[in-house]
Amino acid sequence: MYSWSYITGDVPLSVDASRFRRALGSFPTGVCLVTTVGPDGKREGMTINSFASVSLTPPLVLWSIRDDTRSAEAFLTSRSYIISILASDQKEMASHFAKPALDKFAAYEDAFTLGIGGCPKLRHSAATFECSSYSRYQEGDHTILVGRVDAFTNSESTPLLFHSGQMGSVWEVAEKIPHQA
Ligand SMILES: Cc1cc2nc3c(=O)[nH]c(=O)nc-3n(C[C@H](O)[C@H](O)[C@H](O)COP(=O)(O)O)c2cc1C
Repeated sequence: MYSWSYITGDVPLSVDASRFRRALGSFPTGVCLVTTVGPDGKREGMTINSFASVSLTPPLVLWSIRDDTRSAEAFLTSRSYIISILASDQKEMASHFAKPALDKFAAYEDAFTLGIGGCPKLRHSAATFECSSYSRYQEGDHTILVGRVDAFTNSESTPLLFHSGQMGSVWEVAEKIPHQA
């Protein structure tokens, strides 16, 4: 595999983490919920914005997970997971699944059905991708997960956006950006 570290060397580079985070936050993204089920049958779900498309043939997508999150073990060992692009009216759910909890699903039981590999599948979202685990790349403190899309739906609902720490519809997020002439 090609790696920039062949060029940059393995010199540890430290950056001001909060400045770096703020700079990354200036890139507007959608917001997704990724779900899986552990070997013990426990459902796991987390809010992510690292989703990206990778390939059409085969159909591949990616996302990345911070290795020290509580649910990382379940996602990294699971053979399948489901990524849902959240709609603009799912902001509360996005905030809920971004906080650690023993059973995040208890508060949203009716919102889910069962999908690929027994993973919890959102009944409503802007789009949903049911994925088989395809490859993984451990980089820094995150692991990039590439998933092969075995089934998908697309409702074309207005998406939920994330920009500079703000979540909302395209109109709510745009309102918070200082107007530049
Ligand atoms: C908008 C948004 C995007 C996020 N994106 C990611 C991401 O791409 N990868 C990640 O590991 N955590 C991401 N997080 C943080 C996780 O949602 C958070 O750490 C969550 O508690 C992890 O679930 P767990 O505690 O059940 O393991 C994001 C949070 C928010 C609010």
